[in-house]
Amino acid sequence: MTAVWPMSRFPELKKAACWLTGSVLVASVAMAAESPKPAGYYGYGEPASAEQIAGWDIDVRPDGKGLPPGSGSVEDGEYLYQEQCAECHGSFGEGEGRFPVLAGGEGSLQDARPQKTVGSYWKYTSTLWDYIHRAMPFARPASLSDDEVYAVTAYVLYLNELVEDDFVLSQQNLTDIHLPNEANFIADQRPDVRNKRCMKKCRDPQAIVIKSQAPQYVPQPIALVARPQASAGLEVYQRSCALCHDNGTGGAPTLGDTSDWSARIGQGVDTLYAHAINGFQGGSGMMPAKGGYMQLSDDEVKSAVDHMMEQSR
Ligand code: HEC
Ligand code: HEC
Repeated sequence: MTAVWPMSRFPELKKAACWLTGSVLVASVAMAAESPKPAGYYGYGEPASAEQIAGWDIDVRPDGKGLPPGSGSVEDGEYLYQEQCAECHGSFGEGEGRFPVLAGGEGSLQDARPQKTVGSYWKYTSTLWDYIHRAMPFARPASLSDDEVYAVTAYVLYLNELVEDDFVLSQQNLTDIHLPNEANFIADQRPDVRNKRCMKKCRDPQAIVIKSQAPQYVPQPIALVARPQASAGLEVYQRSCALCHDNGTGGAPTLGDTSDWSARIGQGVDTLYAHAINGFQGGSGMMPAKGGYMQLSDDEVKSAVDHMMEQSR
C-alpha cells in the first residue's frame, strides 16, 4: 500500500494547498524544467509508516475484524459510565438536554418522532464499540483503553437490557450480541450507486475552486421545532461560545453567573469586545480569539458579547 502522509513540508507547492478535514488538496504543481516525472509523482510528502497507518486503521467490522484483544464487565462499565458519560447521556442512557439518548425507544421507529437508540435502532454491536472507541467521551475522544471501551460498551448494552448485570464483554463474544433491529436493515436496491463512469462534458478541473471550509462542530439546537425569532447575538453565542460559556469549561465565566461577570462588565464594554475579538489570557483561563471561530465578523462577536452581558447582569 502506498499512501502519502500529509506533512507540513510544502516548499515545492507552486499553486495552492488547502486543508479539508485532514486531507490535503493540491492544485497542480508545476515542476520546473526537470526531467519528466511519472504520473502520480507530486514531489512532496513521504510514505506513511506502518505505525502511522495503524493509528488510522481502527475500524471494527460487524464480523469482529479489527477488534483488539481485551474485555470489560458491566460492573466496571457502570462505574466508568457514571464518571465519564452520564453527564451528557444521562445515568440510564436517557440523555441530558439535547445529548443523544442511548437506551430505550423500542417499538418507536414507526412513530411520528421515532427514538433511535442503540437498542431500538442500531444494527451492529461492533458499531457501538467502534463509535465509543473513536469518538467518546465527546471532549476526549480515544482516551479510553481497549478494556475500558469493552466495559462501557457492555454497560450501554446492559442499559438496553441486552445483557445481564454480571456480563463480561470481550473480543471473543462481542459478535454474539445481536441488536434487536439488525434484521430490519435491508440492502438498498435502488440503482443510484451503480452508475457507470461518464467522462463526457466534464468540467475543466482548473476551473473548479473549492471554497468551503470544515466548520467546527458544535451540537445545534433541535431544528425541528420552530424556534422563536432568535437575536443574532443569541445565535452566535449558541453556535460559537456556549461550548465553554454555558458550563464554565476551561475557566470561562458561566453565562448568568452575575458574581463572576460583574467585575468583567465593570471593565467597560469596549474591553470586553476587544478581549472577545482578539483573545484574552486572564486569571482563570484562556479565551481564544473569537472563541476559535475566526470566520465570525467582529460585529457578530460583539453581538454575542452583548447577549452574554444582558444575561449576566
Ligand atoms: C460532553 C458530552 C458527552 C460525553 C461526556 C459523552 N458523550 Fe457520547 N455523545 C455526545 C454527543 C454530542 C454525541 C453525538 C455526536 C454526533 O452526532 O456527532 C454523542 C454520541 C454518542 C453515541 C452515539 C449515539 C447515537 O445514537 O448516535 C454513543 C454510543 C455515545 N455517545 C457513547 C458515549 C459514551 C460511552 C461516553 C462515555 C465514555 C460518552 N458518550 C460521553 C456527547 C457526549
Ligand atoms: C474554548 C473556550 C471558549 C470559547 C469557545 C469562548 N470563550 Fe470566552 N472565555 C473563555 C475563558 C476561559 C474566559 C476567561 C478568561 C479569564 O478571565 O481568565 C473567557 C472570557 C470571555 C469574556 C470576558 C473577558 C474579560 O475581560 O473578562 C468574554 C466577553 C468572552 N469570553 C466572550 C466570548 C464570546 C463572545 C465567545 C464566542 C464568540 C466566546 N467567549 C467563546 C473561553 C472561551
